[in-house]
Formats: sequence, C-alpha cells, structure tokens
Amino acid sequence: MKVDGKDLRPIWIDRDLKTVKIIDQRLLPHELVIRDVKTADGIIEAIQTMQVRGAPLIGVTGAYGMYLAALNHPGEFIKNDYIARECERIKSARPTAVNLAWAADRVLDKILAVEHTRDRVDAARNEAGDITEEEADNCKKIGEHGLGLIQAISRAKEGRTVNILTHCNAGWLACIEWGTATAPIYMAYEKGIDIHVWVDETRPLNQGARLTAWELGKYGVHHTVIIDNASGYLMQQGMVDMVIVGSDRTTCTGDVANKIGTYHKALAAHDNDIPFYAAMPSSTIDWELKDGIKEIPIEQRDPDEIRYVQGLYQGEITSVLVPPADSPAMNIAFDVTPARLVTGIITERGVCRASAADIKKLFPEKMI
Ligand code: MRU
Repeated sequence: MKVDGKDLRPIWIDRDLKTVKIIDQRLLPHELVIRDVKTADGIIEAIQTMQVRGAPLIGVTGAYGMYLAALNHPGEFIKNDYIARECERIKSARPTAVNLAWAADRVLDKILAVEHTRDRVDAARNEAGDITEEEADNCKKIGEHGLGLIQAISRAKEGRTVNILTHCNAGWLACIEWGTATAPIYMAYEKGIDIHVWVDETRPLNQGARLTAWELGKYGVHHTVIIDNASGYLMQQGMVDMVIVGSDRTTCTGDVANKIGTYHKALAAHDNDIPFYAAMPSSTIDWELKDGIKEIPIEQRDPDEIRYVQGLYQGEITSVLVPPADSPAMNIAFDVTPARLVTGIITERGVCRASAADIKKLFPEKMI
C-alpha cells in the first residue's frame, strides 16, 4: 500500500535472497523502522515480540522463517528431521492465529516433496512467495466482496456518512495488502462513498490507536480514535452503522477468535441491531475445530504489556507504569465471539452467514 507516495508492505525478501525485511510495528506510528531478519530464530523472535503481528502476516512471516531455516541448514544437506523440528519451533511462536501453522506446514510439505538441498531451498522460497501473493490477492477479494455491504448501507442512508467501527488492526500491516477488516473500507473510500471509521484504541498494545489510525490516515480515510469502552455508547446513540473486525482463527462453524474485546463489540452490536462482520482469508479458518470457546487456544502475554503504556514523550518513544508497581495484571490476548453473534463472515470467496452449512457452501472442498 502507498505510504507517503511509496509502495510498502510489512514484509518482503531482500534482493540478496538471504534477508527478510520487516516493518517493526512496535514503533509505529512514531517511527517507521525496517529491520533485517536472517535466521529462523530471528523470525520467531519477531513474531513473539510482535514486531510483526496480525494473523495473515504471522503466517507469511512463518513461511519465510521456514525458508531461512532451509537456507541456513547445518551440515551439507537439509535433513527431514531438522526441517520438521524447525517447523514445529516456528509454529509454536504464537498459539492463536492458525495462519502460522497453516503457512509453515505448506512450506514444509513443499520442502519434503523434493530431494536435493538446493531444490529444497528454492521450493521454500517459492512457496513463501506464493503464500505472500495469495494472501495479498485474498485481501483484495475480501475488499471487493465487503464493499457491497458498505454500498448497501450507504444507499439505505441516501449517501449520508457510513460509520464503521473496527477493533485492533486488521489492516494491511496485519496482512500484506488491503487488510481484512479494512479492505472493504479502502475499497469504499476508492469508490467515493462517504465513510467514517471509529477506531478502538485496543488496549493493551493499542494496535487500533497506533496502527489502524496510522494506516487510515496515510490513505486519507476519515477516522476517529475512541477508547475501547466507548463503542457501546456510540451504538446506542445510532452512531455506528456496522462493525467489521478481523480474525485470528475462525472455526468451520463460524466462531470468531479475535483481539480481546471483540466479543464485547459483538454483544453491544447484537443488542443494538447493528450488523457485525468478521473478515478473514480462508487461511484463518480452522477446518478441524467446531467449538471456538472450548477449542481455540487463547494466548496469554506478559502482564507488563498492561502495566506499562508506550507513547511519544519529548520526541522519544517511552514507556510509563500505570498501576501500582506491585499490583498483578493478567494479559489475555484474544477472545471468541460465538457464531450466533456474527452477522456474517467476509472471505475471498464471498460473504456468508457464520454457520457450518453456509461456510461449507463457499469452501466445499475444505470441510471434513
Ligand atoms: O495480537 P495481534 O496484534 O497479532 O492481534 C491481531 C488481531 O487480533 C487482528 O484483529 C487479527 O489478526 C486480524 S488481522 C487481519
């Protein structure tokens, strides 16, 4: 996507084919820093510390981790047990986004399908590249399908501003291009539809206030940052026309895991008769799970992410302590919104209701 007139993605491979370049998302919006990653360990660290984050991007990063593991193999050959172990290590970097396991396994399969070490390295690089382009394309299609939903609301409102609420960052920074939740928003903006986005700040790491606001601002989309707790009030006041969020893992029955707090948005939307959509590529759908609340692993992160808040002070990025120094904190990173509260899911193959039967109609070959 364009940033200050230049095309930018959150990840790419350098011309030397030995270095993966990433935007360090921890420093946005105040600093745009590109980092070099040269090893699978570096990839795992980048995922765990959330230099890269967001389900589709975590998947693509894991795929490049497999490439770097293949490239930097010890000894003369890439042994099957070595590369399978590296795959497991990469997959365990973060638990909730299913895209990570999906992408790492895809690269592993391609590596194991050929014999010679040089072919294995090439296969890994090609597959990581294919996954990257597919995800970019999937997000574009999500945008095209989701656009119709925004157009319908705009028509019903006779061209008055469509107010869309989103949570966390499900933008191009979390994907490759377009984003998932933001893709229909960018497409609507391109079509000249009058839109305005309520951006939940998304405590504790403020992906909304830091990243979504930055993305939308760079694109020129009219938006307002709100505290996470404001959305219920705005919905009651008729100031929200629809909610669109992303997802880190969605069951094949339509339960949606996403950033903590998403469930509250869905409850408030349900109470106020506001459509609540989750946008995701099929790489985010877990075809094996049926009960998201019981089965989706929910990451717990370092409580210090809650205790300290990061921001810009006198030109420097700095952190400050909020609660009493000895108060414990608990940092649950995701929650699950049950399918009954989800109006629909927006995928690269179209929009459908969040139910096993309707998801099956879009992806008949995936359902077991
Ligand atoms: O902890 P994060 O920042 O990786 O969580 C990201 C989200 O919850 C996003 O909303 C989700 O991955 C959808 S991304 C297109």
